Amino acid sequence: MAHFERDPHTGHMTTGHEWNGITELNTPVPKVIWLFLACTVIFSVGYWILMPTWPIGRTYTKGLLGDDVRHDLTQSVKQAALDRSEWSARIEKESFADIQKDPRLMEPVRETGRALFGDNCAACHGRNALGTKGFPNLTTNSWLWGGTPEAIFQTITVGINSAHPETRTSQMPAFGKDGMLPRADIDKVIAFVRSLSPPNAQDTKKDIDPAKVAAGKELFAANCASCHGEDAKGNTEMGAPNLTDQFWIYGGDQASIAETLWGGRQGHMPTWESRLSALDRKILALYLVDLRKPEK
Ligand code: HEC
Ligand code: HEC
Repeated sequence: MAHFERDPHTGHMTTGHEWNGITELNTPVPKVIWLFLACTVIFSVGYWILMPTWPIGRTYTKGLLGDDVRHDLTQSVKQAALDRSEWSARIEKESFADIQKDPRLMEPVRETGRALFGDNCAACHGRNALGTKGFPNLTTNSWLWGGTPEAIFQTITVGINSAHPETRTSQMPAFGKDGMLPRADIDKVIAFVRSLSPPNAQDTKKDIDPAKVAAGKELFAANCASCHGEDAKGNTEMGAPNLTDQFWIYGGDQASIAETLWGGRQGHMPTWESRLSALDRKILALYLVDLRKPEK
């Protein structure tokens, strides 16, 4: 026989059940929880009706709203491909100068160029194209083979001392090893070369002997100017670097220049003609010109 009573300690009614004198408090689940549960049930029924939900055999209930994530994705991929084919066709067709003037084309050039550079060039030239010993910095105005987009495109296409039949050929002779200049003359010409670049361009220049510089200047005119120019500012016809600026491929200190003059230098840059499409090479040339800091 159920016997309801109020529990004197908690103030709750009991359920009327009793086990050997132990009674049970009547504390039902709070109303908010019921309400919340009811809401989730109503929501899920609504969701089943509106959205794709239940699998039925090989298909599924499509829902009244016709929402389809797979379809949305295919559409957006199609749209992106359409955009890409639009700008890539224009980059392929238009001149470097016209592309550089159009910010809507330079935007994909920067984005795609960065990815292409990271995948193909960063291993040698560094991720930010700043170069390292033996690999030139590509963000300066100091170019071996010219810094116009056309010249850069050509360098990327044929490479330097590469396997390409039209490769650019870069030969810094081994004046010491091949006995073209006696060691004492090499020493003088090194002093002259060191005197050319601005102070602190990898060299403190404190120990340069002015008498050696004067003698080295004459040796330079006779042996080096044919490639590096009378003013030592380099020659983009032969890939001969400017020796008067702050940028060095192999180093502008006594030891590095001595090594260059003794053993010669033949940098090797691969050809990309068969590995990158003309479009990709064009994007890279534009990317590098864009990367260049105007003040350098
Ligand atoms: C295997 C190493 C290597 C890779 C990879 C490489 N380069 Fe080079 N690159 C060189 C070297 C070395 C030189 C300098 C050659 C010299 O000293 O004559 C050079 C020179 C250049 C030059 C000429 C710079 C000037 O002053 O005229 C350009 C432009 C260039 N690289 C762009 C690229 C681009 C773009 C890529 C990627 C597609 C790339 N390089 C990948 C090694 C590399
Ligand atoms: C046949 C042409 C030629 C002659 C002659 C020549 N050079 Fe060079 N020199 C080059 C080329 C090309 C390079 C770049 C080599 C490379 O990067 O692979 C170079 C590189 C150098 C470098 C390295 C620059 C750097 O950034 O690290 C120095 C220094 C240099 N030459 C000094 C001289 C001196 C001094 C003489 C005369 C004794 C001389 N060269 C004669 C073509 C020449």
